[in-house]
Amino acid sequence: MADLLTVADLEVGFQTDSGLARVLDRVNFHVGRGEIVGLVGESGCGKTTLARAILGVLPANSARISSGVIDFDGRNLLAEDPQDLATEVRGRLITFVPQDPFSSFNPVFTIGAQIDELMKWKSPDAEPGSGRRYPRTRRRSDRARVVELLRTVQLPDPEGILKKYPHEVSGGQRQRLMIAMALLPEPQLIIADEPTTALDVTIQAQILKLLKRLAAERRVSVLFTTHDLGTAYEICDRVTVMYAGQEVESAPSDDFFAAPRHPYTKRLLESLPSREHGISGIPGQIPALIDPPSGCRFHPRCTSVSARCAAARPDVSEAGPDHLIRCHHPVEAAREAAS
Ligand SMILES: Nc1ncnc2c1ncn2[C@@H]1O[C@H](COP(=O)(O)OP(=O)(O)O)[C@@H](O)[C@H]1O
Ligand SMILES: [Mg+2]
Repeated sequence: MADLLTVADLEVGFQTDSGLARVLDRVNFHVGRGEIVGLVGESGCGKTTLARAILGVLPANSARISSGVIDFDGRNLLAEDPQDLATEVRGRLITFVPQDPFSSFNPVFTIGAQIDELMKWKSPDAEPGSGRRYPRTRRRSDRARVVELLRTVQLPDPEGILKKYPHEVSGGQRQRLMIAMALLPEPQLIIADEPTTALDVTIQAQILKLLKRLAAERRVSVLFTTHDLGTAYEICDRVTVMYAGQEVESAPSDDFFAAPRHPYTKRLLESLPSREHGISGIPGQIPALIDPPSGCRFHPRCTSVSARCAAARPDVSEAGPDHLIRCHHPVEAAREAAS
């Protein structure tokens, strides 16, 4: 069966005062049905931009999508009518778990009122285009669905929580609510953008386990962005690594963590034990995207660099089953070398 989501050659820039920032450079990746895919990369590499492009919520005044296809379940989202996207896709077939659950709630309404508003428009039983009507029978069945799901995400006293205001529940509980709200419309894909970064470590682990379990139970695909390889390892079936707006390597998690083939990802993995320092182990800086390095954007920092790397971005090549890299000088396959 075809993948649920395929992003092909996606190029996105932002108009800024100092010129066009070329943020995503012909990015390719895919998410299979029921698969949890990690989009991994350092802060600023373009994860949120990619998530927003898929959701169709890039800032209209500054963002420029200059090429590419975002195929979701057979429809090219970039060619769709914006109104259809808003009613049929966004918040319904594709939902979102944000990084900061607090800023995603309106502080002046109860959690219950905000979930009612979501369900009025995005309940799986809502007819697209049914307007502002929220029939009482549907409201009642939706409410039962909400309470049941809050129980599933292990929130104590669901009815009580619905009466509370966002500031009256903890950060971990808010993120459980966000996961529940992402599941309520019965989507095919959840995009979780660094969903646990704002939480402390023990809560992080619980939330990740919960997301993984619910995605498997409900056969929902998840696109999970993170700057933390350890987090990706916990939860993802497959990972795609981006560097400065270019995808460099994509592989099933086991294969990826055992035998990375791109010099950047190899270095990234080697820096794992001290990951609180990011990748300070790799000399050099993440490039500015107004005038990014030509060819492979990692080439100024790469120890395997040659003239080809600056001249042209490497094509995709296959390093193993479902293992793709873009590199002129891939790392030797460690496992083969060792055996
Ligand atoms: N609205 C915008 N206008 C200009 N530049 C932006 C905008 N949004 C993001 N960027 C730039 O795009 C790059 C990628 O940002 P982002 O997608 O947020 O990365 P990540 O989520 O991986 O940290 C950064 O250099 C950031 O400054
Ligand atoms: Mg981000």
